[in-house]
Amino acid sequence: MTNWNTFYGPVIEGQFCLEFLDEWLKTNRKNYTRIIVLTDSNVNEKCLPMFLGELKNIGETAIIEIEPGEASKSFEIVSQLNLALLENNADRKSLLISLGGGVISDIGGFLSSIYMRGIDHIIVPTSLLSMIDASIGGKNGVNIQSYKNLSGTFSSSKGVFIYPNFLKSMNQKDLISGFSEIIKHAMLSSESLWKDCINCSSSSEFMNLIPRAVKVKIEIVEKDNKERGNHRFSLNMGHTIAHAIEYFENNNISHGDAVAAGLWIESEIAFGEGLIDRESVDTLQRLIDKWWPRLDLKNIDVLEGMIADKKKSSFSKDFYFSLWSGVGKGAVLISVPEVKIHKAKLLYAQG
Ligand SMILES: NC(=O)c1ccc[n+]([C@@H]2O[C@H](COP(=O)([O-])OP(=O)(O)OC[C@H]3O[C@@H](n4cnc5c(N)ncnc54)[C@H](O)[C@@H]3O)[C@@H](O)[C@H]2O)c1
Repeated sequence: MTNWNTFYGPVIEGQFCLEFLDEWLKTNRKNYTRIIVLTDSNVNEKCLPMFLGELKNIGETAIIEIEPGEASKSFEIVSQLNLALLENNADRKSLLISLGGGVISDIGGFLSSIYMRGIDHIIVPTSLLSMIDASIGGKNGVNIQSYKNLSGTFSSSKGVFIYPNFLKSMNQKDLISGFSEIIKHAMLSSESLWKDCINCSSSSEFMNLIPRAVKVKIEIVEKDNKERGNHRFSLNMGHTIAHAIEYFENNNISHGDAVAAGLWIESEIAFGEGLIDRESVDTLQRLIDKWWPRLDLKNIDVLEGMIADKKKSSFSKDFYFSLWSGVGKGAVLISVPEVKIHKAKLLYAQG
């Protein structure tokens, strides 16, 4: 089991982490009037029985279930969830547990930070993407229309409990989707994680990469908790293009799949800017092509999507990217001319 103390609360990973959570409940359950578990219908069916079965000390709980998918990450749903908490007698001394993928941890983080001006929150991520990325770092948010994560807060949790066995019920597509964020973490961190990503031959091997991918995210977030400097911005690698794609797809594409395409295109831009060598870019693009079919982007105006995205810098007309400069070398924040963005998109489209 691996345990980190972070600015936004403890993060515990490993096959015994639910036992650890159960011990925590044994000590702390008495301090909470109600425990409410927020989940989606897939996770309710596939993970909730195992989750509750492992927690002998959880006592009486209320379960609130929402529809799976990005469409649930909205103010309307958050508004309904506030009322659902009230109907379940949640008060300021209640605890919300978010059990699910990144959609659930983003909604749960936001909900817990605003309901009655804030209640305690625990995150139990069940998708690969949420285990190594979304559940860590204190950010939450909801989409407004097609504007991704336009509204949200930074919030702490009482703990993030990462139990990799939950991944056994995930379908291949969703599992592979989360691998894109592991690749991104590897690009930012070390040769060893990078090589292990390249050598992965089956999605069952992704599980072995979780502790190192979590560590990368924690280390970057800890240097720049509130994203005021440039450290945390490096986590946006691949995301400028990904968010533009998500905007045009009206968020009907999985985040991880959009990030995979974003990493491919942005690595080409990084090469065009002279930040990285051809061999590294080819290696990355081969890795992405091994796991993802190319997306059809012909109806996607990346520039318009970028303008719409909140990460488009509001103080200038330039298009800013967080671009790769080599394994373990971090990212460079740079403005890129339109023509080079188009060229990279065209190379991707040539498939
Ligand atoms: N806050 C952050 O720092 C941060 C970082 C990265 C991504 N995100 C957000 O995370 C979201 C994407 O997360 P995601 O990919 O986990 O999406 P998701 O929550 O929609 O989960 C993907 C699918 O997998 C299902 N699922 C989850 N766990 C399962 C399990 N163990 N067994 C069976 N099915 C399971 C879900 O029901 C869903 O259908 C996006 O909204 C993105 O913006 C947030």
